[in-house]
Amino acid sequence: MNNVLFLVDIDGTLLRVDRQVTRGIWAETWSNIIGGKVPWERLDTAAGKTDLQILAQLLGDPDYACRIAANFFDELAECAQRSIVSTSIQLCHGARSFLVEAQKYGARLVVLSGNERRIGWHKLRTAGLDRFFLEGFWGCAVLDRHHLPPIARDWALQQGLVEELSRVIIIGDTPNDISCAHRYGFVALAVASGPYSIEELLQHRPTLCFPDLHHAAVSLQRIFDNPAMNRRLIIAIDGPAGSGKTTTAQLLAERLGYTYIDTGAMYRALTLAALESGVPLTDQTLASLLESIMIELRHTSHGQRTYLNGRDVSERIRQPDVTALVSLVSSFPSVRQAMVRLQQKLGRQGGIVMDGRDIGTAVFPDADVKVFMTADLDTRAQRRFLELHASDPSLTIDDVKRQLDQRDTLDSSREYNPLRRADDAFVLDTSALTIEEQVETILRHIRNKFAMSNSVSQD
Ligand code: DC
Repeated sequence: MNNVLFLVDIDGTLLRVDRQVTRGIWAETWSNIIGGKVPWERLDTAAGKTDLQILAQLLGDPDYACRIAANFFDELAECAQRSIVSTSIQLCHGARSFLVEAQKYGARLVVLSGNERRIGWHKLRTAGLDRFFLEGFWGCAVLDRHHLPPIARDWALQQGLVEELSRVIIIGDTPNDISCAHRYGFVALAVASGPYSIEELLQHRPTLCFPDLHHAAVSLQRIFDNPAMNRRLIIAIDGPAGSGKTTTAQLLAERLGYTYIDTGAMYRALTLAALESGVPLTDQTLASLLESIMIELRHTSHGQRTYLNGRDVSERIRQPDVTALVSLVSSFPSVRQAMVRLQQKLGRQGGIVMDGRDIGTAVFPDADVKVFMTADLDTRAQRRFLELHASDPSLTIDDVKRQLDQRDTLDSSREYNPLRRADDAFVLDTSALTIEEQVETILRHIRNKFAMSNSVSQD
């Protein structure tokens, strides 16, 4: 299990600090830095919020909060270090045994908390829990804790703590912790040891929900054995041109920490090679051409780039001459067989989002998640037109519509592996959706498919 990363919340999950003590620290700091009394009536709840978010809400002005944050938190941290002592802290039931057990399983433990960094470490030290954690990610610099999980995940990967993450598990006591996990496809383990009851937490569909960490600790084996815990999914996205596949698949992969594989770019690179070499377009010539060239999808800080024999052709393969021929090139059976084999090799280890025309039907008919994206022709043409118009002002929307229609007809009528919706695919009509809504809808679908929601353990 040493490829599992646990991101653990502090307050309400591991421990509780006497409310009077916390309020006293804020009152003293507020009076010293801002003057007057803390307007607590402005804060609905502190649970699940970051310290910077609490400060912004109390001030009613996020910009002002960011400007004074360094000063305010210096004072707050100093005050907390003086005032929070072991008698002001109560450990949540089972907190220590959970951390001990999780470590025995080889899980990597990291703090993910809304606390200011020094205050968070001070609480953990005072409670004797700091030694369990390799690092912490804190809420003193971000207004929204939703920004923290991918930072923690990328840090763990960069440090080489985990060669390949199979799972990231967020453990917390609030709906905010659950939604942090959902946003990135992580496992959400909720505990009702904070201000929210099990029933309230279940409404937010955590993957697992326990009364407290004691119950989670005795169920660790069951948690790890659960199939949803250990998989790096294969996500297949198919659909016609302009349905939004590429942008959605890219964003989805980013959110999940997965690799994005654009199979259209592979067919396009072969088409470019054919154009440049001038070979006749037959099944046999194209199949041998494919054997003699090297197509690579490299992941760079500028997103995925396509290389043909070591040359970056990412922009070149989107030019009209390539687009006009790619459907024909990709219709030859030997070309498709070779490409499918290559794509299966690229994706079989999982943790991928692959988009194309035949991913859910031919490349990975057993994919964990299959999405078929569609949109009406007018919407797709409008999207493509906006993309292409800048580089080719002579293009009209009718030209684009005609080309898309032609390409769809060719792609769906070819004999071998045509564009077709897999029977078990989730159909997503994107005509009236924004990119963000498309990503959210797919994540929700994945969550519903794999969530072990309502699995409350009270034994
Ligand atoms: O997604 P795209 O527009 O870049 O794809 C270019 C062409 O490649 C598309 O018209 C059909 C073909 N293609 C395919 O046949 N099978 C795939 N898996 C991906 C693309």
